[in-house]
Formats: sequence, structure tokens, C-alpha cells
Amino acid sequence: MQNFDYYNPTHIVFGQDRLAELNTLVPENTKVMVLFGGGSVKRNGVLDKVLASLGEREVVQFGGIEPNPQFTTLMKAAELARTEKVNFLLAVGGGSVMDGTKFVALAAKKENDEHTLLHHGFAPVPMTEALPLACVATLPATGSEMNMGAVITMNDQKYPVMSPLTFPKFSFLDPDFTLSLPKEQIANGVADSFIHVVEQYLTYPVNAKVQDRISEGILKTLIEEGPKTFNDNNDIEARKNFMWSATNALNGLTGAGVPQDWSTHMIGHEMTAMYGIAHGRTLAIILPSLLRERTEQKRAKLLQFAERVWDIAEGSDDQKIALAIDKTEAFFNGLEIVTKLSHYNIDEAGIDTLVNNMEKMGLTALSESGDLTLDIVRKILLAAL
Ligand code: NZQ
Ligand code: ZN
Repeated sequence: MQNFDYYNPTHIVFGQDRLAELNTLVPENTKVMVLFGGGSVKRNGVLDKVLASLGEREVVQFGGIEPNPQFTTLMKAAELARTEKVNFLLAVGGGSVMDGTKFVALAAKKENDEHTLLHHGFAPVPMTEALPLACVATLPATGSEMNMGAVITMNDQKYPVMSPLTFPKFSFLDPDFTLSLPKEQIANGVADSFIHVVEQYLTYPVNAKVQDRISEGILKTLIEEGPKTFNDNNDIEARKNFMWSATNALNGLTGAGVPQDWSTHMIGHEMTAMYGIAHGRTLAIILPSLLRERTEQKRAKLLQFAERVWDIAEGSDDQKIALAIDKTEAFFNGLEIVTKLSHYNIDEAGIDTLVNNMEKMGLTALSESGDLTLDIVRKILLAAL
């Protein structure tokens, strides 16, 4: 196992009918900015419940944060936070709203400064203060409710923004708040969570037994509970397990002390930015093809994945690995995610443009060992046509 620091200060408030506790968790005498997206939380009543739970506090609302939140929109929210002198931010929504709120927490302290805020990759943003924030999560997928990351879009490019200052102080995870999600968003969330675990697990062995077994537990849970949640809106017990899986998939625990490979995410982000395909869906298209291409580099962990996650006991190592990748793809297809680029009207020319954009973004040496070059990315995408 590699050396690591593990720090996660977010208080999780998990379960149904707990929103009244918001009143005790948000500090008294604060002016709160409630941030939300395109209106789902108005339609499903969650916003009204949040406002009621905030009691007598002064509240400023900022709606309209887009899926794949836009820099310009968030800078307007930051400006409003400054002029209104708010001192607490509350995100009510999915990953885009939670990410956007994290960005606003930083931007509110730094006027119009794109360079300080956006261009640091996975290194922390060099800032020493941010507004405190918390979340009411409505979409299990990104893990944003319990991590310090955000992904912000500017000029059709996606930028990671990391800061320990943006860990939510607390996050409400109420499965009832996710009941209004369209089926395809459940599918996207299952795929996104599954692939968060995979990108921290399917690299090479470092004898990190706790991380491996937690990862395998989350993957198995998603395989069991994801389809149940997808197929039956009334299965609240399955939904609870799916929701908690999604949070644990990217809260730093499985990734501590192990090599990581975020190639699928980096390629997927480009695909979302260029073609507007939802985040989780891009990952499900890329991952099976990437695993087939990278079987040699990932052989030992792929075999472990086959035996421990998919319970494949028969056959040669090669057969087990091939079957595990096929089962993974079939799992996504079973959630009605088509894993072929042609379905999304992306052809060979589209792949070339995507690869060129990755080059412009400096994404030229991906993977757990930095050996995944753009010609390999092209090969992976061609195999997914
Ligand atoms: O905008 P509203 O009206 O709220 O509708 C949203 C949006 O259209 C809707 N929705 C959310 N909760 C709902 C609901 N509709 C009905 N009922 C509910 N309860 O769902 C749509 C998608 O929402 P979005 O927040 O965009 O989805 P998701 O949670 O998948 O977040 C995706 C964003 O997170 C980033 C992605 O890049 C993308 O920008 N990521 C953030 C990460 C992180 N912070 O750690 C890691 C991820 O890998 C990911 O990159
Ligand atoms: Zn993701």
C-alpha cells in the first residue's frame, strides 16, 4: 500500500424525513444562499421543504445552474453572494448544483479571477478561504456531496476544481428526494458510481486489502441494487443502498493509498463537452473498450475483478477477464445505456476532433502510469464505434 492522507470532514445526514434537522445544522443568524438547477427541486417540492426548514433565516435564492455547470453562470452567483453578503451556501440538487456551489464558495472570495480558480487540474486551488457550504443531494452519482471536487465547464471544456475548503459541512441524503428522477438519470448515476470505484481499483495490485474489499463491496452492491432501483421506483431499500454506494464510490476512502487511473473520466469529460452526452453515459461507452485495450497493464486486477466482483470461477485467466468485461458492458446495457458511439452520431471524424481537443487540453499521458497516449485513446474510441 502507498502512503496516504485521508481527511473527510463531511457530516452525512442519511435517511428519510430528516430535513427538519437542517434548522439545527445551519448556523443561526446566517444569511443563506440556496442554489439549485433548472427547476426539478421546485417541481418535486424539495425546495419548498428546504426553505421551510431554514426557518426565520434570511435567504437568497439562485436558480438556473445548468447540468455541467457553466463558469459564467457561477460567477453571477458569486457576485450575488458578495453583494448580498451571504455567509452560508446550500446546494439543493444533483452533482452539477453541488459542484457549482463549491465553485461559488471559492469564487465569492475572489472577484473575477479565472486563473486562480480554474487552471490547476487535480492540484488544490491556491486559496485560503471559501464560504462554508452544505448540500441536499437529489441525484446519487457523483459523490460530490462528500468530496472536495467540482467539475466546471468553460468554453466547451471541463475543468476539475479541487479544494479542501469545499468539503460540504454536511449533506442530506434522503432517498425520497431522488424519486422524481427520470430512469435514465438513475442509469447514469449507477454507471458513474460504478466507474468511480473502477478507476481507483482496476490498476495494478499494491496489496491494499481494505481498499480492494471496500471497492468490491460497492461494485457488488451496485450490480445488485442498481437494476432494482432502475426498474422499480418503489424499492426504497434498494435505492438507499444505491445512494450510499454512490457517496462511498468517491469520498476518498477507496482511493487512499492506491494507484488511480482516471482515463475514462478524462475522455468522457471531453465527450460531454463536445457532444453533450450525459457524464455517466460517456463513461459506460468508454470503459469496456478501454479495459479490453488495457488488459495487459491491468491483468492482475482484472482477474481479481472477474473472480471477486463477477464471481467467475471457470476458464483460463484470459477467458475470465474477457467475460468480466463483457458482463460489465452487459450491466450498462441492462440499464438501457447503449455503449456504441455510432448510436450517439459520433463517427471517425468526430473521434479525431475529440482526440485533438484532448491534445489542446494537455491530456496526452493518461492512466495509472502515464502511458496512455492519444493514439491509444483513438484506438479505444474506434473500438467503441
Ligand atoms: O437542473 P435540474 O432541474 O435540477 O435537473 C437535473 C438535471 O437536468 C436533474 N435532476 C437532479 N435531481 C433530480 C433531477 N430531476 C428530477 N428529480 C431529481 N431528484 O438531473 C439532471 C442532471 O443533473 P446533474 O446534476 O447534471 O447530474 P449529475 O449528478 O450526474 O452531475 C453531473 C456533473 O457532475 C460532474 C460531471 O462532470 C457533471 O458536470 N462530476 C462531478 C464529480 C465530483 N464533484 O466529484 C465527479 C464526477 O465524475 C463528475 O465528473
Ligand atoms: Zn464521474
